[in-house]
Amino acid sequence: MVVKLPKALTIAGLDSGGGAGITADLKTFHAMGVYGMVALTAVTAQNTLGVRAIQEVEPSIVEAQVNAVAEDIGVDAAKTGMLSSSPIMESVAKVVKKWGFPLVVDPVMYAKSGDPLMRRDAMDTLRRTIIPLAKVVTPNVPEAEELSGIRIRNLDDAKAAAKRIAEEFHPEIIIVKGGHLTGAESIDVVYFRDNGEYRELSAPRINTGNTHGTGCSFSAAIAAGLAKGMNAWDSIRQAKELITMAIQYSLPLGHGHGPVNPMSWVELRAYRYDAVVDLNNAMGVIKNKVGELIDPQDNGGIAITPPQPYATDPRNVIAVTWRSIKDGLPISLIMRSGSSRLVKYALGMVSSNPELRALILISGLSDLISGVKRGLSTYDYDLSGDESMLISGALNNALRSLNRVPDAIHLTSVNDLVIMGESATSVVNKLIKALG
Ligand SMILES: Nc1ncnc2c1ncn2[C@@H]1O[C@H](COP(=O)(O)OP(=O)(O)OP(=O)(O)O)[C@@H](O)[C@H]1O
Ligand SMILES: [Mg+2]
Repeated sequence: MVVKLPKALTIAGLDSGGGAGITADLKTFHAMGVYGMVALTAVTAQNTLGVRAIQEVEPSIVEAQVNAVAEDIGVDAAKTGMLSSSPIMESVAKVVKKWGFPLVVDPVMYAKSGDPLMRRDAMDTLRRTIIPLAKVVTPNVPEAEELSGIRIRNLDDAKAAAKRIAEEFHPEIIIVKGGHLTGAESIDVVYFRDNGEYRELSAPRINTGNTHGTGCSFSAAIAAGLAKGMNAWDSIRQAKELITMAIQYSLPLGHGHGPVNPMSWVELRAYRYDAVVDLNNAMGVIKNKVGELIDPQDNGGIAITPPQPYATDPRNVIAVTWRSIKDGLPISLIMRSGSSRLVKYALGMVSSNPELRALILISGLSDLISGVKRGLSTYDYDLSGDESMLISGALNNALRSLNRVPDAIHLTSVNDLVIMGESATSVVNKLIKALG
């Protein structure tokens, strides 16, 4: 059987900073398992602070790009982003009608910095020519205000604006995005023109300034869902999950609004998989070589974290305790994460030194601890306090007094020995070397 690869097209501009526009769209398409293609509408000289210059692409070239990929490769769904002028919009409308693929319209008017990305005199063409072609249209609050003429301060206003846009310009589904509203949740209002139904999509509002490209990734994710043959509502729901994650793990780059991180959708899974393989390997070595030395009642174990920006959430740390290693169950059944001491130590360690992503904790076994200490460079730290702060405090002090990272830290107030390294396999090798 030939498996059909879903294919999506973005008709949008280039952001040289890589955070928004076609680069955000292509990352999003590929993260979602969809092959991505481009019809470029403009080149912008842009970074996280603002837009410095814009060169529009000839409308005939925009049209030619769409025809080229549609004729040969095929387009299952498309999205539009920056369409800066009326002639570009007219060309896009012509080819979209010709090929008839489902279209998501992100009616981009301004960049995150507030710089305009659309000529004012194109507003009417956007309303009358582009928006009517949309299966889904995704204005943010200022754009929905512009399109509907309704001032939006809360969800009721957003609902009224969505309905007005539907009635006047006839897209099938309108999403008024809540990124510009306030409140503990970022709520998007979804309005279905057919039956007049409203739905709300809600996610915790993440406290970050790194939101460059949210609208681009969100609309690209909806187009990716449609390209896969998902229905519109499922595509929209999944896009909300992806964008929430992309904002949670956004990247602190540049001096303005850093980019969102749509690759987190696949990267985090890949890092978890690598960590499981690494831990599995380390557990095999432990069982063969030093298993009998460790009392299964010991509260310690092994933990590994993904790299930054993912090493912030305890749920992303993979840890196993000695007790469960001794029980011999498969790793999938004994992995744990959340609030254990192992996990807190791991997060504290990686926050101080991003290269230290794995640790072994030996807790309270005085004989074993003194044995290991003889074979490894160990820093003794006698303060007490919060578990994640303990490790970072100890690491910072160790760096100051030793001028290098020690192999292990002995938290003498709780008699915990933490052996640190880049991978679970490397910390296990340190343990074996110390005891050998
Ligand atoms: N701080 C945040 N926390 C959680 N979700 C957010 C946050 N900011 C925006 N969102 C969500 O991101 C999606 C995009 O909305 P937003 O209003 O930011 O789009 P936009 O203004 O068009 O973005 P851009 O400026 O990149 O074009 C929506 O689902 C919105 O709810
Ligand atoms: Mg936008």
